[in-house]
Amino acid sequence: MPSTIKGLFLFRIYNSRGEPSIKVSVMTEKGLFSACAPHGASAGKYEAKNLEVGKIEKIFPRIKKNFIGLEADFSLIDEMLERFGGKDFAKIGGNFSIALSQAVCKAGSQNNPHRLFGQAKYFPFPLGNVLGGGAHGGGTDIQEFLAMPIKAKTIQEAAETNFAIWRRAASALKAKGFVAGRNDEGALVSRLSDLKTLDLLSEIAEDFGARIGVDFAASELYSRGEYTYSKLGKSFSEREQLEFVLQLIRTYKLAYAEDPFQQNDFSSFCELAKKAKCIICGDDLFASHAGRLKKGIKTGAGNAVILKPNQAGTVSRILGTAELARKNNFINVVSHRSGDTCDSFISDLAVGIGAPLIKCGIMGSERAAKMNRLIETWESAGRPGMAKLKV
Ligand code: PGA
Ligand code: ZN
Repeated sequence: MPSTIKGLFLFRIYNSRGEPSIKVSVMTEKGLFSACAPHGASAGKYEAKNLEVGKIEKIFPRIKKNFIGLEADFSLIDEMLERFGGKDFAKIGGNFSIALSQAVCKAGSQNNPHRLFGQAKYFPFPLGNVLGGGAHGGGTDIQEFLAMPIKAKTIQEAAETNFAIWRRAASALKAKGFVAGRNDEGALVSRLSDLKTLDLLSEIAEDFGARIGVDFAASELYSRGEYTYSKLGKSFSEREQLEFVLQLIRTYKLAYAEDPFQQNDFSSFCELAKKAKCIICGDDLFASHAGRLKKGIKTGAGNAVILKPNQAGTVSRILGTAELARKNNFINVVSHRSGDTCDSFISDLAVGIGAPLIKCGIMGSERAAKMNRLIETWESAGRPGMAKLKV
């Protein structure tokens, strides 16, 4: 029986960085279903545009009326959000749009991912952010140093491996006197250089049978033809950046490299994908946008795509991008944001679309919430195996 939207509520909440954010709740005859908007620090130029919470609060009473009485069907609601949102959702805010879209999705399925997406066939490997820097805070220029527990047989085992790698890294840093704190994504920060950080993580990961990867978030390093590594005291031309990335992939046997080049450089992604045996993933490059991914597929710009629902603006859009990737053998990598909440919709999304990888962090309640949701739905899905992923 389809349910009807009987009430719509907006709340000013705060994300894990303490920034104002929003929560949208949808009331139907089946109950109250809520979703929260996350927020990026290394946000790309091509993402849906956010609107300040104060502005959303002002327009909400006017928008709200249009949704009351409609069926809680996210594709129907998403069409309206497209119409009201205008270019890049700037009129209503991509943050409002994605929160409402996800809340309706949860309402329509009564928060049961199996009802929404069908029975899960396998579970994604969590790409865990162990050590970090860049725009998330920390001593390195590279934003994220990630663990991929590829040998895990279950999602529970994968989670435990990532927690163990994080803890081992924390005690190694403490023992060396490199005081370990945590950044925006709960990743460890230290005074170790980028290369020493890679030395440390690759050694620890090997002990746990895991592979490693990095998110360069290279748009943050780029300006006017140069990539500046301020901690390394080096500036690279576009060609030198390609060589540097290749060298890191080969030296550290990286299984995964995200945004190794700035968000407009499709051709370097393409060149790297030809030369490296590695998952080459576009985040800011594609901004979860089907049109940009289409261009990437055509030009061979990498072989994987980050899916952040709030980059896209609606659930329908993110599903469209995921389907395009799947049909063209691009690996779907569902992802959280650095400023996040305990909303765990992305876990259901990753399982629902059969994504082989999910980036949901390791430490912090807002990160654990996603992992815990994966474990919970794994039980109710009849404990399926892990994704088939060749690395
Ligand atoms: P962001 O970073 O959420 O701060 O944009 C995450 C990422 O770049 O993958
Ligand atoms: Zn990224």
